[in-house]
Amino acid sequence: MKLDFDRILDCRSTEGTKWTTYPEDVLPMGIADQDFRAPQLIIDALHARVEQGVYGLQTPPRVLSDLIVDYLAHRHNWEIVPDDIFYLPGVTDGLSLACRAVGKPGDHVLIQTPVYSPFLEAPRKADQVPLFMELTRTESGRYIVDFDQFEDTITDRTSSFLLCSPHNPIGKVFGRQELERTAEICLRKGTVVISDDIHCDLVYSGHTYIPIAKIDPEIAANTITLVAPSKTFNLAGLKFGAAIIQNKTLQERFRQSLDMLSGFPYHISVFAFAGAAAAYQHGEAWLHEMLPYLEHNRDTLHKFVSEELPGIQMRLPEATFLAWLNCRAAEFPTTPADFFLEQARVGLSDGAIYGDGGKGFVRLNFACPRSVLMKALMRMRRALISIQNDT
Ligand SMILES: Cc1ncc(COP(=O)(O)O)c(C=O)c1O
Repeated sequence: MKLDFDRILDCRSTEGTKWTTYPEDVLPMGIADQDFRAPQLIIDALHARVEQGVYGLQTPPRVLSDLIVDYLAHRHNWEIVPDDIFYLPGVTDGLSLACRAVGKPGDHVLIQTPVYSPFLEAPRKADQVPLFMELTRTESGRYIVDFDQFEDTITDRTSSFLLCSPHNPIGKVFGRQELERTAEICLRKGTVVISDDIHCDLVYSGHTYIPIAKIDPEIAANTITLVAPSKTFNLAGLKFGAAIIQNKTLQERFRQSLDMLSGFPYHISVFAFAGAAAAYQHGEAWLHEMLPYLEHNRDTLHKFVSEELPGIQMRLPEATFLAWLNCRAAEFPTTPADFFLEQARVGLSDGAIYGDGGKGFVRLNFACPRSVLMKALMRMRRALISIQNDT
């Protein structure tokens, strides 16, 4: 059956944070949730779980681990075993739990900016100290890692490095050589890689996501990878994530770190388990239709920005449904995000929240019906033209 991603849903009535953040006349294109209905088979699985009528604390279902193992093997060619999986109430929690598991209070955590803003706070939640280094932006707008700087920034107390792969907000899919070099330096320096791979299913044609832990067993033993079906299948409100850890010592340390979560032992929502199991088991057919729709949105957006939004530059994201718009040449009287909010009534994420290197950028979420994307772009164009006419 052909799915209808053009259909406009009444997202505001769900009181989604993406929507309630702004007044009603604003088109929200910020927070990284989709405006699409989740796959029907996930909705059916949630209905079935509701029908069971018993919602007591639930032990992680064994079948879920098997489903994740199968999914990662066939979708990403990555072999893990069920015991490598630790369930979490979300990937963001996993970042600080992982920092805590691999380091001591006061240790340093290396973070490349700009990056998904909760990365910036994760070390402090583990009583650790962030060390920031900026990704290098080339003239064409491509981002690369300065590996000499990367190595020099790592101190004797840098117990972990937070990688975002694929990368939010810049949309980069790291290549094998970049991942190998990153892993090799971290191994040599005794720094564990904590890799947030939540966007790994949302990769566009011509690009391949490689889990850093897959590169070789020694690297796997020095890595904690965080995954979730939430970005892929629009399930963030179910609050589910998983850490993949293939080293027994790190597994034990992560287990101890989980004490930080409330409850003894902590539990995951019964609906998170039901939704995640259905996503990993049945979600892919939906994803096969959704990804080309997203890719078309991405290309439409890119063309529009290049041709119709003077002063704004965008590189094609290789993954994610997030576009990273460079507004530095547009010389707005306020921040670009404030400008588009006030003058275009379009809500975008302010690049400054992603740390050094993000100022003068906005992040635009294009996981919405194409007509909504076009409406937002028209509004942005009108606002841009009006200030150009004023000057
Ligand atoms: C890179 C990255 N990590 C984590 C999250 C959020 O994960 P969770 O809702 O599971 O905490 C997001 C959400 O956009 C993200 O982009």
